[in-house]
Amino acid sequence: MDDFNGRLTKDGIRIHDAPDFAGMHRAGRLAAEILDEIADMVVPGATTADIDAAIEAKVTAAGATSATIGYRGYQHASCISVNHVVCHGIPGTKTLKDGDILNIDVTVIVDGWFGDTSRMYVAGKLGRKAERLIQVTHDALFKGIEAVRPGATFGDIGHAIQTYVEAHRMSVVRDFCGHGLGQVFHAPPNVLHYGRPGTGPVLEEGMFFTIEPMVNIGRPETKVLSDDWTAVTRDKSLSAQFEHSVGVTATGVDIFTLSPSGRFYPTWINA
Ligand code: MF3
Ligand code: CO
Ligand code: CO
Repeated sequence: MDDFNGRLTKDGIRIHDAPDFAGMHRAGRLAAEILDEIADMVVPGATTADIDAAIEAKVTAAGATSATIGYRGYQHASCISVNHVVCHGIPGTKTLKDGDILNIDVTVIVDGWFGDTSRMYVAGKLGRKAERLIQVTHDALFKGIEAVRPGATFGDIGHAIQTYVEAHRMSVVRDFCGHGLGQVFHAPPNVLHYGRPGTGPVLEEGMFFTIEPMVNIGRPETKVLSDDWTAVTRDKSLSAQFEHSVGVTATGVDIFTLSPSGRFYPTWINA
């Protein structure tokens, strides 16, 4: 019997109820607010360690907990992935330079609920190729989100993302995926950002998961550096990623990590 916390589907995916959606909105909103608030820190000369320290301070000030500090030995409140780093970049003392693009990924725990989101930033002036990569990656995430509704499959989500990215002659990273979440950080299913329509588990109202496509300008292959975290493109091409935490509703999708100030996509950067 598993009634108390909601049932699990045959694929091991937890089905959540209305109060659970409210919990995810509180966690997701905090993660998104923090990503809004640190945007002005992303400038040439800043270090990613400074940005991470500000993120950790904001998590603490909100009375929340960082999900990443202490997770499998990880010691930071964010992952900051610069240029050809695909994901899991470790904040450090290297300074950002003009034109660097970076993903900042924050996961917070609020009253036991996990809010996980990431988005792209630029230090200084955004280059044309990088801008196109960021735009395609952002729009690919929303192609995936638009496929979310009861009765669709996880393969439909992956297919929508892959088709869009490859139509723009870019590649989808296969080595990392989205994930179920809720009162745990990483739960079933693996949310692949590529796939075939009609395959994979069927989506049901009450499922919570992330969609977080990583897109490379060049080839999709990655490798993990000797620090055991930092994943980079094998061909050193630029990589981008956006991530939202979402829930399946009766009619479609509920995005838990929307930016309260409309800063998810960096249209304001060269303005
Ligand atoms: N937030 C990442 C995700 O989207 C996971 C980071 S785990 C860490 O799933 F330990 F690297 F921080
Ligand atoms: Co995630
Ligand atoms: Co994340």
